[in-house]
Amino acid sequence: LTLEQIKADGKIIMATNAGFPPFEYIKDNAEAGVDVDIAAEIAKDLGVELQVDDMDFNAIIPAVQNGKATFGAAGMTVNEERKQQVDFSIEYVKSAQYVIIAKGSGTTVDSLKEAGVKIGVQEGTTGQFYATGEDIKNDEASEDVLSYENALIAAQDLMNGRVSAVIIDKLPAESIVAANPDKLELIPEALTEESYAICVKKGNTELLDAINATLTRLIEEGKIDEFVINHTAA
Ligand code: ARG
Repeated sequence: LTLEQIKADGKIIMATNAGFPPFEYIKDNAEAGVDVDIAAEIAKDLGVELQVDDMDFNAIIPAVQNGKATFGAAGMTVNEERKQQVDFSIEYVKSAQYVIIAKGSGTTVDSLKEAGVKIGVQEGTTGQFYATGEDIKNDEASEDVLSYENALIAAQDLMNGRVSAVIIDKLPAESIVAANPDKLELIPEALTEESYAICVKKGNTELLDAINATLTRLIEEGKIDEFVINHTAA
């Protein structure tokens, strides 16, 4: 896909999973968030329309690979496995996994290692990989790690007592706690170091260069921090 073809099409399609505030969420029946704002700037710089397609997180990379989406923007952490499947832009946000627990429960990171202690995660995310990895359950097939369509639904089960914790990225974790301050709290400890980037189909260098140019401009202008503040509930 060349830039010429994209401009002839007149639109770009962003694949995302809109249960991940402040990066992508549903507001007034439409997708909103930091990644949507970034994608709108990419579209503006290319002179095309932006279409946002909300799908399962696990469907994003396949959609980019088969051309159904022009790119994926979903607070997606760059890792080795994904790098085999897609090409990534420059990194635009630093993040980490955090643990949400029931308020006053005293649940600790160490206690999550115990057999029978249930952890909610979003299917296909680095939170799932961390929970099933050596630091916590050390078992990729652990029945104690329950995967959900998104972290908002996982948090419902935390409030219902079906899981003891939810492991998810920092800002979504803060956002979920801020929406349920009487019921939830955060363990104030970063469990990982991660960075987000936008992904494109392998070899799509013209598009990637254009995305990188927009991201570089937004970073230099301080716009990404601004978008984060705008989409973070006061
Ligand atoms: N950063 C994590 C990952 O890449 C979680 C991303 C989830 N994003 C979303 N839009 N639901 O695995």
